[in-house]
Amino acid sequence: MSGSKNKAVTASAPAKVILFGEHFVVYGQPAIVLAIDRRASATAEYGKDERISINSVDLRLAGTFKGKRFQASKGGEKARLKLEPTRSAVQQVLETAGTKKGVNLSIKSNIPIAAGLGSSAAVATATVVAVSRLLEVDLSKEQIFRMAYESERLVHGTPSGIDPAIATYGGALQFQRGKDFVNLGVQTSIPLVIGNTKVERSTGELVAKVRQVQGSFSSIMDLILISGARTALLAVDELRKGNLQSVGKLMNINHGLLSALGVSHESLERLIYASRNAGAYGAKLTGGGGGGCMIALAEENKLKKVMNAIERAGGIAFEARKSDEGVRIES
Ligand code: MEV
Repeated sequence: MSGSKNKAVTASAPAKVILFGEHFVVYGQPAIVLAIDRRASATAEYGKDERISINSVDLRLAGTFKGKRFQASKGGEKARLKLEPTRSAVQQVLETAGTKKGVNLSIKSNIPIAAGLGSSAAVATATVVAVSRLLEVDLSKEQIFRMAYESERLVHGTPSGIDPAIATYGGALQFQRGKDFVNLGVQTSIPLVIGNTKVERSTGELVAKVRQVQGSFSSIMDLILISGARTALLAVDELRKGNLQSVGKLMNINHGLLSALGVSHESLERLIYASRNAGAYGAKLTGGGGGGCMIALAEENKLKKVMNAIERAGGIAFEARKSDEGVRIES
C-alpha cells in the first residue's frame, strides 16, 4: 500500500474523564485524568491539489479549504469555524512533511460533543496521526501531543493541554502544566458512570468565567486552588491504595470547589445528587462544567442503580471503562 495514491489511513483516539482538578489545572495545579472506552476516528486520503476537505459525520458539517478560501458543502458558514481546528491539525502535519498535497478527511466519533469528554482533542489527535501516517512522516508522541494542543487552542483559547495529552497517551495520568505526565499505573478497576445532562456548553466560555472569578477575588481563588491541588494529590494516594470510598469522598469535595467557582449547573446538580442518593461513593462534574457531563464512582454492583437514578433525573447514563490505549492506527 505504501506510496499508493488511493490508500486510506484511519486512526482513533480516546475520550477522557477528568477525575480531579479541571479548571485548577489551567492555573498549574495537578489533575487526574482517565482515557475511556469511547473514541473518535479520522480517515485520511489524498485529495485534490492543495485542498483540505473535511467531512465531520457527527457534526453534520463538511467543506473544503484552499488557502484562505473555504467552501461549505454541509452546514453553511458555521462549518468554517467548527472545522478550522481540524484543518489546523492537518496543516501542521503537511508543513512538517514539507508538502502541499491535498487531503480528504472523514471524522466519526461516538463521544458526546460539547459535553466535557474531550471530543475535540480526540478528533485533533486522531487527525494528526492519520495524516502523518498517510504522508509517511514519523512523529513522536510528544510531537503528536504538541500539534493536537495547537489545534485545541483554536477551540478553547487557553487550554491546559490535559485533553490532547490523554488522547495521545491513554491510561490514567497525573497531569500538571509544564511538568512531565505521570502515568498512575492504577491497577484497581475504577467503576464509573457518566451522566450527560444534554446541556451543550463551551469549555472556552467556562474557562473565561473562572478567569473572572480570579480577577475579582484572587485571594479566595488562591485558597481554592490550594484545596484543589491537595484534593487531587490525596486522591492519587487513595487510588493507588485502591480505596475507592475515599476517592469518592474526595470527588464530592472537588465538586464543591468547582461549584464555588460557578461552573456547576442545575442540570449537573440534579444528576450528581441522584447518583449520591443511589449509593455512589462520590459524584462530580467532569470537564468544563456548565452542563455537559458528570461522573459517579460506585461499587460494581451499584452501577445499574446509579445509572437508573441518573436517567430518572433526566440525564443519559452510560458506563465508562478506563482505556489504556491512547491514539492508535486502526487500518
Ligand atoms: C477541559 O477538559 C478541562 C478544563 O480544565 C480546561 C483545560 O484544562 O484546558 C476546564
